[in-house]
Amino acid sequence: MKTVFVYSTRSGNTKKLAEDACQILEGEKALFSVTEVPLHEFADTLVVVGFPIMAGRVEPRAARFLANLPEKTRLVLFVTHGSKRDTSLVAQVIAQAEALVSQVDLVGYCTSQGEVSSRVLDKLAKSSRPPSWLKEAVTAQGHPDFEDVSRLVTLIKSCLLCA
Ligand SMILES: Cc1cc2nc3c(=O)[nH]c(=O)nc-3n(C[C@H](O)[C@H](O)[C@H](O)COP(=O)(O)O)c2cc1C
Repeated sequence: MKTVFVYSTRSGNTKKLAEDACQILEGEKALFSVTEVPLHEFADTLVVVGFPIMAGRVEPRAARFLANLPEKTRLVLFVTHGSKRDTSLVAQVIAQAEALVSQVDLVGYCTSQGEVSSRVLDKLAKSSRPPSWLKEAVTAQGHPDFEDVSRLVTLIKSCLLCA
């Protein structure tokens, strides 16, 4: 079974995670930005889609792509975010993504922190209503890191084995 990575990204974290995981993974594979996926034909393919959380939501270009995936696509999701892993905010966004892909075969997902630039952190801190995830975002520095990449690759390998 082939693996196709598709990522959306604003500041590069999700792209980096996708590129590093794609590089490590053995077997037939391809990598695309969500803005340049050539065709939505994914026969005998594990489709691995990554996106950042933006203002508490699935990044919009990724949301459109997910909602239009052909029925029965075998799908793995990975999400990057400034807040800590296993928080209710991240769980809410996973639930949003699950609702978008009810037509497909979602076989797994994983989440990783992704660093936020100090310029953005400063700007948000000075806003009239700083977002709730902002305090946790300082712990995202250096992510995605090697452990994040390994976690994603391990998940993909287990999904390929079960295919
Ligand atoms: C405008 C903006 C909004 C964001 N909103 C959230 C959010 O609601 N929750 C969160 O955990 N992280 C949030 N983040 C942090 C990003 O999700 C995180 O840095 C992610 O790794 C960015 O991925 P990218 O570099 O691929 O764009 C936000 C970042 C920006 C710049």
